[in-house]
Amino acid sequence: MSRTLWPFSRRRRELPVEQVAAQQPVNSTSISVDDRERLTHAPYFLPKDAEEDSRLNFQHRALYAAIGNHYLAPLKPETDTILDVGTGTGIWPVEMSRLFPKAHITGLDVSSSSFQYSSTAAYTLMLGNILQGLPFPEKQFEFVHQRLLVAAIPTANWPSVIDELIRVTRPGGWIEVLEIGVTIKNAGAETARLLEWMGDRSKERGFDMGMVSQLGQLLIDAGLQNVEIHHIPAPLGVWGGHVGSMLKANVLSAFGALKGAYCSQAQMRPEQFDAWVQNVAEEWETLHASYVFHAAYGRRALA
Ligand SMILES: C[S@@+](CC[C@H](N)C(=O)[O-])C[C@H]1O[C@@H](n2cnc3c(N)ncnc32)[C@H](O)[C@@H]1O
Repeated sequence: MSRTLWPFSRRRRELPVEQVAAQQPVNSTSISVDDRERLTHAPYFLPKDAEEDSRLNFQHRALYAAIGNHYLAPLKPETDTILDVGTGTGIWPVEMSRLFPKAHITGLDVSSSSFQYSSTAAYTLMLGNILQGLPFPEKQFEFVHQRLLVAAIPTANWPSVIDELIRVTRPGGWIEVLEIGVTIKNAGAETARLLEWMGDRSKERGFDMGMVSQLGQLLIDAGLQNVEIHHIPAPLGVWGGHVGSMLKANVLSAFGALKGAYCSQAQMRPEQFDAWVQNVAEEWETLHASYVFHAAYGRRALA
């Protein structure tokens, strides 16, 4: 895939020296087998480097093209406090601040190394680890959003993560989670085999990619009201026009980002993985495959 597919790449924001010193322990990364940087202080197994930051921004655009908005919950225009957990580059808070000009939006991430924006009156980007509890008192936010953290949250932690999102949400406020997992419609035999193999590698790490189709049930079990569950298929492949081409580019890049971790676990040569993925992508075109996004939102009870 050509690098020119990533039109949203930005230079990393330089942090003031004193902030860099203060944040070094939580921005620790190491280079792994695939020459990509990964966090060493969290179980997150996608890379944390400039190439991945560009992919995240491109993915943000692809999701918008596929879904048509940056959120699904029925938010009031006057929503005033919004939290984005695992914010990545910060592109979601920045773009949400245009849709909700009266709101203050907080983007939180376990590492600041991807942040591409300086905080303003409209949004703040800050450090925090959802696995260790959010650094806010309870009932702070009217809307709490978390997107694409399936490679960051071990299966066993999901219920406590949802409880933590609810803790910081005001009574009557909304919580929304969106993930992409291992659901591809019209997948074909090779795609199914690759997805199963990747699912098995994730399980070895304590992550269940398949659980993302159960997000709605997690919200219901946690006591949220008015829970809505959406399984949103979007075309995967050039056959699906603009959206399909964007998603194909993103999914191929995401598979490439996962390659280093999975190949070192399974002792597979990276070239072998690449060839496998190439076959899989051909199936998407011939079978007209669709990638499924799993989203769910619900409301914290007023009482
Ligand atoms: C796949 S990216 C998604 C970024 C963003 N939500 C988006 O949709 O563009 C996952 C992000 O979660 C962050 N992350 C990983 N583990 C985390 C944790 N324990 N607490 C908070 N953020 C975490 C990573 O640093 C990364 O920026």
